[in-house]
Amino acid sequence: MDMHFRSSAVEIKGPAEIDAMRVVSQLAAETLSAVGEIVRPGLSTEEINSFVHAHTLKQGARPAPLNYKGFPKSVCTSVNEVVCHGIPGERVLRDGDIINIDVTHIYKGFHGDTSATFYVGKVSEEARRVVEVARRSLCLGIAQVRPGARLGDLGAAIQEFAEGQGCSVVRDFVGHGIGRKFHDEPKVAHYGRWGKGERLKPGMTFTIEPMVNIGSWEVDVLDDDWTAVTSDGSLSAQFEHTVLVTESGVEVLTERNRPLANSEIFPDYFK
Ligand code: MF3
Ligand code: CO
Ligand code: CO
Repeated sequence: MDMHFRSSAVEIKGPAEIDAMRVVSQLAAETLSAVGEIVRPGLSTEEINSFVHAHTLKQGARPAPLNYKGFPKSVCTSVNEVVCHGIPGERVLRDGDIINIDVTHIYKGFHGDTSATFYVGKVSEEARRVVEVARRSLCLGIAQVRPGARLGDLGAAIQEFAEGQGCSVVRDFVGHGIGRKFHDEPKVAHYGRWGKGERLKPGMTFTIEPMVNIGSWEVDVLDDDWTAVTSDGSLSAQFEHTVLVTESGVEVLTERNRPLANSEIFPDYFK
């Protein structure tokens, strides 16, 4: 009942913290760009893990997923019907697969979290559609971020678009506040209602990371307690950025300095 009067639990970052977030986010973005360049049929998810691990250490950073709540690897690799938290291993990429690679770095005590879905060789029209809907969904969510906007505005923008394209938005996993902690308040749902939810304030940092399915939004978690798959076996795609609410709008902290290899090859998909 007193919820209306409770002050926000969302941390507001100061200038030094924001600078640290910029640095770690750019390191994560660089590793994601680099790993995208090696995606090809025949590559194993274990090899992706080794690449990300080595690339991260070379930057002087640490891979946040490794040993996080028992996660055994340095990166999440989610192929086709895997929604998120895929564990790298013996799976070998095949022509026509799609793969989300989710990179999170820790540098000087701060986290930067970013992911993208890549095309493995030549993919089906259906695969291309779910990937491009997910890519655009993230973009539309980011476009809602400004002081005074509500968290529900992000979710509504994403949900309206993705569902309008005949896709569905995963409910069980959400974006999150990020900073010294990997997963902090607020929870950033990728569905919701316009004008609802917490108001955004300058200095907040959080991720937006919509998971979009070609079929139903329902997911199951496999016996390894990590791998989330679509219940109906349909394809799922995801993109993630770490963002900062600025005085005037938004800064995409994990923005890349070049187009993604094996992903940004259909730039005018919705035009
Ligand atoms: N990087 C994921 C996210 O976007 C979280 C992965 S948790 C892990 O929030 F333990 F699987 F790495
Ligand atoms: Co995240
Ligand atoms: Co992530």
